Amino acid sequence: MGSGRVCSVVASVVLLWLGVAAAQGDSPWKTLSGNAPAIIAKGGFSGLFPDSSEFAYQFAMIASSPDTILYCDVRLTKDGLGVCLPDIKMDNCTNIPDFYPKGKKSYLVNGVSTTGWFSVDYNGTELSQVSLKQSIFSRTPRFDPSFFPLLAVEDVASKFKPPGMWLSMTVSTASST
Ligand SMILES: *[C@@H]1O[C@H](CO)[C@@H](O)[C@H](O)[C@H]1NC(C)=O
Ligand SMILES: *[C@@H]1O[C@H](CO)[C@@H](O)[C@H](O)[C@H]1NC(C)=O
Repeated sequence: MGSGRVCSVVASVVLLWLGVAAAQGDSPWKTLSGNAPAIIAKGGFSGLFPDSSEFAYQFAMIASSPDTILYCDVRLTKDGLGVCLPDIKMDNCTNIPDFYPKGKKSYLVNGVSTTGWFSVDYNGTELSQVSLKQSIFSRTPRFDPSFFPLLAVEDVASKFKPPGMWLSMTVSTASST
């Protein structure tokens, strides 16, 4: 490598650094833009409360910066309602088997045969009694006792008024098996 090349590499690095420094200006944030980093609460404060539950979202807005973006994994019900559920298998994040013990179905999800309870098999009324539960299986079920209703996307927006929401919609090819 010639010294001219080394020089231009060093110059590029210095220019990049200057660019970043300029963008940061007087900002205390060491991000590329100098703006505060975005805080995304995935399912709310889901370490303590069931992911995507009212308490989880509420606590994220209280405990974190007021700029916090609330993240919701949108799943559709039979009647086209978008609800926030962390797992496509409802049995992994709710107590739905207690209400619909015979509701287990198999679908091909992205080509993989998946068995469980799925939101598309129920309408909003049928899901109104179902409660979210913690998804940390290693923890005692004592974290589950309260009723945590499923939240529709609109509920999250209107109840917690976050400055923004991150809606994740996985477009999966699902077919009944
Ligand atoms: C769903 O729950 C089962 C145990 O009930 C677990 O083995 C599996 O890993 C979970 N799946 C996901 C995607 O969390
Ligand atoms: C939801 O499903 C139940 C049971 O199948 C049915 O009785 C009810 O009318 C449905 N409600 C709506 C709003 O579609």
